[in-house]
Amino acid sequence: MLVVENLQLKLNGNSIINGLDLHVGKAEIHGILGENGTGKTTLANLIMGTNNYRPTGGRIIFEGEDIAELSISERAKKGITLAWQEPARVEGLTVKDYLSLSSKNGRADQIERYLLMVGMEPKQYMDRDIDATLSGGERKRIEMASVLAMHPKLAILDEPDSGIDIVALPLLLNGIIEMNKQGSSVLLITHSEQVTEIAHRVSVLCAGKIINSGAPLETSQWFKNNCLTCPHINEPAH
Ligand SMILES: Nc1ncnc2c1ncn2[C@@H]1O[C@H](COP(=O)(O)OP(=O)(O)O)[C@@H](O)[C@H]1O
Ligand SMILES: [Mg+2]
Repeated sequence: MLVVENLQLKLNGNSIINGLDLHVGKAEIHGILGENGTGKTTLANLIMGTNNYRPTGGRIIFEGEDIAELSISERAKKGITLAWQEPARVEGLTVKDYLSLSSKNGRADQIERYLLMVGMEPKQYMDRDIDATLSGGERKRIEMASVLAMHPKLAILDEPDSGIDIVALPLLLNGIIEMNKQGSSVLLITHSEQVTEIAHRVSVLCAGKIINSGAPLETSQWFKNNCLTCPHINEPAH
């Protein structure tokens, strides 16, 4: 589905992405696990084409086609969606309006289903405005419901757990599992080993490069042993 080959990005003379290789299979949840500053958000922007990022080297192949030079909307039309680390600002819309925009048919009963998938009671939320009266965790879950409504081929989720409390976390993770059951491949970007438990495969990012990849439990244990204790963060010895 997605093949990233020897991807490179230099910003202001600094190499942020450094020969990154990645394969995400069809209907796979692929976790990217990396500490802060390792290039996770930059990778998300390169795949989506946001922030005007274009690789300085390498290829981004989606369903057999190199998409690295396509516009954001062309990539969106191909079925790629990015949910940002900070939820989008959509003030002035209700939850129902927002999810109707994302949804292919916009039917109220469908929208209610997406809210339920992220543990939100439709009656309580459909007519709420998307503004500062919602908690950070509620906004993140509404963002996940909107990705569910879009049915993307590939959902890139940048730290979907940020700002989420321990009560809401399983509800959010359930939304991601549902997304995958609907047929979406998911690139699940996080610095939390706990979040990668729902992945089929996990890759560890350091200094803009994948330094290990494998089964979730083993790979997140490897991350704990090698990255959380590493005094040379972003200077990979591997
Ligand atoms: N526009 C930029 N110019 C120079 N360096 C940048 C720019 N944007 C991000 N960086 C650097 O790239 C590195 C990776 O950033 P980022 O992708 O946001 O990391 P993460 O999401 O893993 O925390 C950081 O060291 C950051 O300071
Ligand atoms: Mg980030």
